[in-house]
Amino acid sequence: MQKLKLHIIVGSVREKRSSWPIAQWAYEKLKDKAEFSVELVDLKTWALPFFALAKPPAMGGYEDPLQKKWAQKVAEADAYLFVTPEYNHGYSAVFKNALDYVFAEWGRKPASYVTFGSVGGARSVEQLRQVLVELQVAPLRSAVHITNHFEKVKGDRFVPEEKESNALEDVAKDLAWWGEALRTARSGKK
Ligand SMILES: Cc1cc2nc3c(=O)[nH]c(=O)nc-3n(C[C@H](O)[C@H](O)[C@H](O)COP(=O)(O)O)c2cc1C
Repeated sequence: MQKLKLHIIVGSVREKRSSWPIAQWAYEKLKDKAEFSVELVDLKTWALPFFALAKPPAMGGYEDPLQKKWAQKVAEADAYLFVTPEYNHGYSAVFKNALDYVFAEWGRKPASYVTFGSVGGARSVEQLRQVLVELQVAPLRSAVHITNHFEKVKGDRFVPEEKESNALEDVAKDLAWWGEALRTARSGKK
């Protein structure tokens, strides 16, 4: 079976962000799974400017070189795992900008979330799910919700509770199932 390409997208670019050690934890846990070829995609490295191009991305025909490059990166994936904090009961502006930058490349693929905050990032993910539907992403039910993340990020490492590790396993199973199903559907095969 051909491995599914899984992108773990880091949704915060702040100095000393918790998202980075949490994303690295997810990467380390998933990178050796037989089902996936995993890549960490860091929005801090991509440094996309605020979207200001004339043509709405849903119209396609990208002309901007960075937009084309981002589109290519997004298109490579068969599934997404978004590592997203909660900012004012939503998700970060930098992450929304990255979602808005391209359109068709996200579509017909599953996504789940590793999220955190005072109520485990629940409000961030609820908001995100609404937007993903418009991008034709299949937003999964399963998610990793981390509470008290400040106590679990120790230096540059995230030290999970067992329930968080178990939740990530469930997320991986769902991403593999949906990822395979939708890849088959995208290829037009039965
Ligand atoms: C602009 C901003 C808004 C925030 N709003 C919330 C919030 O609404 N709910 C919450 O649980 N935490 C909130 N927090 C705290 C974040 O959960 C915490 O700072 C977290 O570490 C942010 O993720 P990051 O370190 O990867 O950027 C907020 C933090 C920032 C910087």
